[in-house]
Amino acid sequence: MVDDNLLNEDQAVAEINELRRQINHHNSLYHQFDSPEIPDADYDRLFDRLLALEKEFPELVTPDSPSQRVGDAPLSSFEQVTHDTPMMSLAKVFDDQDLADFEARILKRLDDDEPPTYNCEPKIDGVAVSLLYVDGLLVRAATRGDGVTGEDITHNVKTIKNIPLRLQASDGERIPARLEVRGEIYMSRSGFAAMNDEASRSEDGRVFVNPRNAAAGTLRQLDPRIAAKRPLSFFAYSAHFSDFRGPEYHSETLALLGQWGLPLNPERAVVTGYEACLAYARNLLLKRPNLDYEIDGAVIKVDNIRLQLELGSNARTPRWAMAYKFPAEEASTVVRDVEFQVGRTGTITPVARLEPVFVGGVTVSNATLHNMDEIERLGLHIGDRVIIRRAGDVIPKIVSVIKGTAIKGTEDISSGRITMPDHCPACQSPVEKDGEVLYRCTGGLICPAQRKESLRHFCSRAALDIEGLGEKLVEQLVDADLVHTVADVFILTREQLISLERMGEKSADNLINAIEKSKATTLPRLLFGLGIREVGEATALALASHFGSLDKLMEADEDALVKVADVGPIMAAHIAHFFGNQENDKVIADLRSRGVTWPEHSAQTVSDKLSGQTWVITGTLESMTRDEARSRLQALGAKVAGSVSKKTTAVVAGPGAGSKLDKAVELGVAVIDEQGLIDLLNGDQ
Ligand code: IVH
Repeated sequence: MVDDNLLNEDQAVAEINELRRQINHHNSLYHQFDSPEIPDADYDRLFDRLLALEKEFPELVTPDSPSQRVGDAPLSSFEQVTHDTPMMSLAKVFDDQDLADFEARILKRLDDDEPPTYNCEPKIDGVAVSLLYVDGLLVRAATRGDGVTGEDITHNVKTIKNIPLRLQASDGERIPARLEVRGEIYMSRSGFAAMNDEASRSEDGRVFVNPRNAAAGTLRQLDPRIAAKRPLSFFAYSAHFSDFRGPEYHSETLALLGQWGLPLNPERAVVTGYEACLAYARNLLLKRPNLDYEIDGAVIKVDNIRLQLELGSNARTPRWAMAYKFPAEEASTVVRDVEFQVGRTGTITPVARLEPVFVGGVTVSNATLHNMDEIERLGLHIGDRVIIRRAGDVIPKIVSVIKGTAIKGTEDISSGRITMPDHCPACQSPVEKDGEVLYRCTGGLICPAQRKESLRHFCSRAALDIEGLGEKLVEQLVDADLVHTVADVFILTREQLISLERMGEKSADNLINAIEKSKATTLPRLLFGLGIREVGEATALALASHFGSLDKLMEADEDALVKVADVGPIMAAHIAHFFGNQENDKVIADLRSRGVTWPEHSAQTVSDKLSGQTWVITGTLESMTRDEARSRLQALGAKVAGSVSKKTTAVVAGPGAGSKLDKAVELGVAVIDEQGLIDLLNGDQ
């Protein structure tokens, strides 16, 4: 409440002005610089006080007061707005050659052979808008519409906290009398997730499919109080002046908008020549999974505005700009079936079999459903149309079910209900619940699915590394009952192999040689290959370094095991349980008697292939964890550092790599991707 008896209008003006100044200051710290100075509650107090004063003195309300962001009364319809100059769209390219052609066309038209300088920006996946500032004041915001006419959405746009209601000019600086700023309104991924989380718990449980739909849906509301509650933001990407001589370069125009308080995307960069644009786009694609907003490509714009004018436009698209599109991360498809997969340790995971769909750059026909809780959460039935998401290199997942689209009537699809089987689909042993959400097959080694998974793991690159013994062959060997435990690999004969379908004499010989070669292994590889629950590559190496020999490890009890770095009580219990099991002891004895050897391991017995080198790992890796990559590099003698400097030998960058990758590119440090690392670890380089 305002103690208004004590306040005359002059005092109210003074206090309101001060409150607005403070609120604008904190708004900009919070939304532009991500560094608030005061807690939210203090901010709310300032805001409430301003609202109360403005209610008391309505004649003092101004259009740029921060109070105008909370949302006026609903409109009854949208006004049409004709844009001063049409809002064009961008021509799209999908591959490197298209971008080379784009530059070739530019050079031809300009009759030049020096590649131009470009401003590269992320292509934000949101909603295009035009903001009109008259004498520095935001007077109108409109959607792109058909490019010529859009809809007036000022009421909603005013609620977006990082859009200035008034431009900030420094002392003596002239701001154009009429300025049109264009850009993209988007919803952050984190804001979207939080909003949907809340929505899923509401009565109707309706959620938005993706951040762009959520942003578009919000801007289409007549009631601005809805927009005021939603986490929308804005990035400016162009300016149109009418009575103002703008800068000579697009990048400078953006910088000017930034000075006036408009939010700019931090990933923009000025580069020369299309090859540098490609490098920018590749780098941006790696960063994509880590950005808190969705992007669907890179926008490449000739930076020099004189050249832009010279190049001109086609009917709908400028000749000086191009969108380099990234593969879409989402697509819709139909769930044909749900099958239950048995893992190496017996865990049963539901997997959706999908109508194949192209998404995230590959054709996807399966998606993991993790567990039964996930199916419940999604409300998924067989036959449903779903949205699939594949971001970066991540395994595809089902994001949501499109309600009311189930295809009914085929075979068992009539009910579509998905239930966990009572018996293992591979060996018919009973399935039991393990903890809150997991189910497990109780079959152990009698379960062919578990045997296949164990064998595949044992032969994999990071374990015994048996070349040629891949997934298909593992299937065949287990199905033909030639391999029961992993130790049986070493008693396979040439004749047995030749008897398998599609196995020629030459392949059989190669395989026998590869198996022979793999017999001389190392303790860490063996330990990892045995597939002890929770024991990844890094733990296997830690165990080997700590105990030195398998016999010592097998004698260790849980107390001794937890002394190993990174081994906790749960993992210790799994390890002790593994070696306490007679069947496992028999496998180890068989491995020994069949000629598999692993020398004693000491932490010092590393190779010196990379000694004296310093490596940095950034982003996510698919086939191993970053910890594993680190220990494997260390085992080759490299130092693995946390930050990039001139001294860094090389950087391993996976999807989601950020500033470390930028730094490496800036310093000219070698960058390799995950495949490059794998090749190096396997000695192919
Ligand atoms: S420039 C004439 N820059 O992409 C050039 N557009 O078809 C006009 N978009 O819906 C656009 N990020 O809203 C430009 N950094 C960016 C952009 C961007 C997203 C959208 C734009 C339009 C579409 C272009």
